[in-house]
Amino acid sequence: MSRAYNFSAGPAVLPLEVLQSAQEDLVDYKGTGMSVMEMSHRGKTYDAIHQEAIATFKELCGLNDDWSVCFVQGGASHQFAMIPMNFLGEGQVADYANQGTWSNKALKEAQAIGRVNVAANCQKDIPARMPADDEFKWTPGAAYSHICSNETISGAELKKFPVTGSPLICDMSSDILSCERDYTQFSMFYAGAQKNLGPSGMAVVAIRKEFAARGSQTIPTMLQYRTFVDNDSLYNTPPCWSIYIFGETMKWVKKMGKENLFRLNEEKAKKIYDVIDGSGFYRGTALKEYRSNMNVTWRLPTEELEAQFIKEAAALGMSSLKGHRSVGGVRASIYNAFPMSGVDALVDFMKEFERKNG
Ligand SMILES: Cc1ncc(COP(=O)(O)O)c(C=O)c1O
Repeated sequence: MSRAYNFSAGPAVLPLEVLQSAQEDLVDYKGTGMSVMEMSHRGKTYDAIHQEAIATFKELCGLNDDWSVCFVQGGASHQFAMIPMNFLGEGQVADYANQGTWSNKALKEAQAIGRVNVAANCQKDIPARMPADDEFKWTPGAAYSHICSNETISGAELKKFPVTGSPLICDMSSDILSCERDYTQFSMFYAGAQKNLGPSGMAVVAIRKEFAARGSQTIPTMLQYRTFVDNDSLYNTPPCWSIYIFGETMKWVKKMGKENLFRLNEEKAKKIYDVIDGSGFYRGTALKEYRSNMNVTWRLPTEELEAQFIKEAAALGMSSLKGHRSVGGVRASIYNAFPMSGVDALVDFMKEFERKNG
């Protein structure tokens, strides 16, 4: 078996152990004679998988019974629309921080539904960054405020969350469960699953029950958060397989130990940033104080050298290092399941490439 060092921003590398146990369970899940993809979502076997996945995630995030964890199809982009449809009523205003490509997409969706105040705007700043505390202009009495904890494309991460005075909603698609965080400061947080949580196509949404209950009741049933909360995400047929892999991934996080995992994430990112900082050849894309530990982005002196770097790395088994087309350069996405050995291989390659071409 040969596994690539997969630096993809998402769908991204999953823990090998999870893939292997899924392979074992694929045809016959624990003696049931069928796979999780084939069994009824109303049956006992599936229900146990579903409930355990929710319980493990809640435990990892420190959420009590005031919270509900929902599995919503359509990924994080679907949440961009669902949030204002539920919570941005007539005569209300929602605050959105525009911190990069993803938060900009979220705010555009909200603008299609209702009134939006752009609380801060550094979307196009180079080097990439997040707004400083004193830049935010929050609206008193806003319906909610929306931020993104980690801009996957630019590689900028919010290290400290603002106090907004209204229910705070956070898109954590690319850094959920990657570092120590107080999840109870939010009214809702969500993530497209395909980076730190599991397969693509599903968002994991953690929402305070009382907040969900405040959502619009005049939008279609499947767009109301209360439908997911009241039915434990079993109102209709849920994405059972994705939820099963999510649950296995959460068990893996628990087994690794959060502190250990978070420390490894810091170490992995630091190794790459140290090479960037120690060289006059590589240039980080994000300001130092906002550098992401999940998506490390940098430039080389020319686009030709960047293309050569990405090509040579791929030939050595390091795949998907090309930066997003809107930013260019190189991006190494090193989520929870990305192995230290892959970071070491990259760091060695970076030094060698600079020696030859610098
Ligand atoms: C921060 C962030 N938000 C939202 C999305 C969109 O997620 P999805 O493709 O699941 O809609 C992404 C995708 O990469 C992302 O990185």
